[in-house]
Amino acid sequence: MSCPPVVDAYYLKEIERARRDLRALIYSKQCAPIMLRLAWHDAGTYDAKTKTGGPNGSIRNEEECKRDENKGFEKAIEFCGEVMAKHPKITYADLYQLAGVVAVEVTGGPTIDFVPGRKDSLVSPNKGLLPDARKGVRHLKDIFYRMGLSDKDIVALSGGHTLGKAHNERSGFDGEWTEDPMKFDNTYFKELLKNKSNGLLKLPTDKALTEDLTFLCYVKLYADEEETFFKDYAASHKKLSELGFRSS
Ligand code: HEM
Repeated sequence: MSCPPVVDAYYLKEIERARRDLRALIYSKQCAPIMLRLAWHDAGTYDAKTKTGGPNGSIRNEEECKRDENKGFEKAIEFCGEVMAKHPKITYADLYQLAGVVAVEVTGGPTIDFVPGRKDSLVSPNKGLLPDARKGVRHLKDIFYRMGLSDKDIVALSGGHTLGKAHNERSGFDGEWTEDPMKFDNTYFKELLKNKSNGLLKLPTDKALTEDLTFLCYVKLYADEEETFFKDYAASHKKLSELGFRSS
């Protein structure tokens, strides 16, 4: 049976102080999208079978950070380093996941329950464990099922693309998914269901969400009901941020 990790009262206070610092930093640097993506890329390498990868701070390793799939994270890691300098007891693993939670919150998204206690690792997972945006339904399912996540998690978490943009020099894709990329809401799903693109971005993996019946049901639900999206997103984000964390 899994049980919650134990962190002491001092650590919990430091987490709350770091949370406030992250709010201020993300607001002043306007860096919510890249902070969310950093948290996702640290966590999304998890392999449920081997219990490797996951949110363990390994993305700060130069070798992992410099991989093609992680282009553009240097600044985000540097910003987190500023918070770390003030709260050195906190693990990088907790700090990056806290930054993801705060990024969603300060852009108007749901409150995501945050439980601290992740351990840091300096062992980077293999390359190629994160989804490839040029691929389709089968690939998405293979990657997220490997993490132990579901179809519902795939669609809810893809709603993270309500924030930010693609940069040609980083991924080879260019553009924003929504008209207001600094606001966390359900417009990503509304845009997905429109036939016209309005010049907005749809990656092949975004389009895939309308090409599978189970995916499509959730896309329609989230486009219609923002509250349901927020509730499901918060639950899926929490799962992602805790992969492999309380089961060992
Ligand atoms: C950006 C792929 C899932 C959050 C991007 C970019 C790609 C991509 C290609 C553009 C990177 C760049 O050029 O800067 C994918 C694929 C996914 C996926 C294939 C599979 C479903 C997620 C998830 C989240 C997320 C689960 C968070 C919950 C973001 C954010 C950005 C982004 C916030 C914008 C970053 C910025 O503005 O700098 N993603 N992503 N993505 N992704 Fe995803």
